[in-house]
Amino acid sequence: MNNTYEAPRRLIKSAEDIEKMRIAGRLAAEVLDMIKPHIKPGVTTLELDTICHDYIVNQQDAIPACLGYGAAPGRPAFQHVICTSVNHVVCHGVPSDAKKLKKGDILNIDVTVIKDGFHGDTNMMYIVGEDTSILANRLCKVAQEAMYRGMEAVKPGATIGDIGNAIQQYVEAERFGVVREYCGHGIGTVFHDEPQVLHYGQPNSGMILEEGMTFTIEPMVNAGDWKTKTLGDKWTVVTKDHSLSAQYEHTILVTKNGLEVLTARPEEDLSRFQK
Ligand code: MF3
Ligand code: CO
Ligand code: CO
Repeated sequence: MNNTYEAPRRLIKSAEDIEKMRIAGRLAAEVLDMIKPHIKPGVTTLELDTICHDYIVNQQDAIPACLGYGAAPGRPAFQHVICTSVNHVVCHGVPSDAKKLKKGDILNIDVTVIKDGFHGDTNMMYIVGEDTSILANRLCKVAQEAMYRGMEAVKPGATIGDIGNAIQQYVEAERFGVVREYCGHGIGTVFHDEPQVLHYGQPNSGMILEEGMTFTIEPMVNAGDWKTKTLGDKWTVVTKDHSLSAQYEHTILVTKNGLEVLTARPEEDLSRFQK
């Protein structure tokens, strides 16, 4: 007896599905590269949202998945294309013409596009004005490495718990907090599918990974405590203790020997995953 379980067959992508996931993933990654030169002191997060909207719709001929997504009892649908999460905002920051970026801010942009029915979901940190505090800089580095540590645990036969455990061990050794309330997710024709990919947990627990599964790994790392709260707009998630927060996200495919990063950016060093 163990505390692991097998994936439902529908979570295993066909060769045709995988080809479409590669395209959706590449488009999402291209948005993050495209927006980089626009991130400067004085720009508003709504201006960045508009640029991404026009690029996705007009250049990529794709669908922005977040626009109109996520209505729930007591919560309106999200009305933008990207999430813009600045400083102590953990995730789901709402683009606004009142939010002007300043030098030293740390900004996460999270984008999801749909192409040919399939989703690509990715996010990264940007340092506004290319200079920030030593703490903010280290936090961003640790969040990215946390994602990579989780990715290193991915191979057929490993479990979802192995991923979360690798992330939690690393982040806590750095004396930062890893957010519990939000997690990675299966992805394909469905935006947020099974399994839930927790960024903490026990080894050898949860769903067993199989070749052909696609999911995101997207740890949120807080400079202080892991606890969060949601603001009155029902979307913006902030750290409870007002400490800084950083996040990185990739959409990945489980392969025979490890994984393929579907949302890789050309300049990103992913050599440790090439086997
Ligand atoms: N892209 C986010 C994720 O990584 C989800 C954002 S949902 C939105 O899962 F509605 F806030 F955009
Ligand atoms: Co995302
Ligand atoms: Co996601």
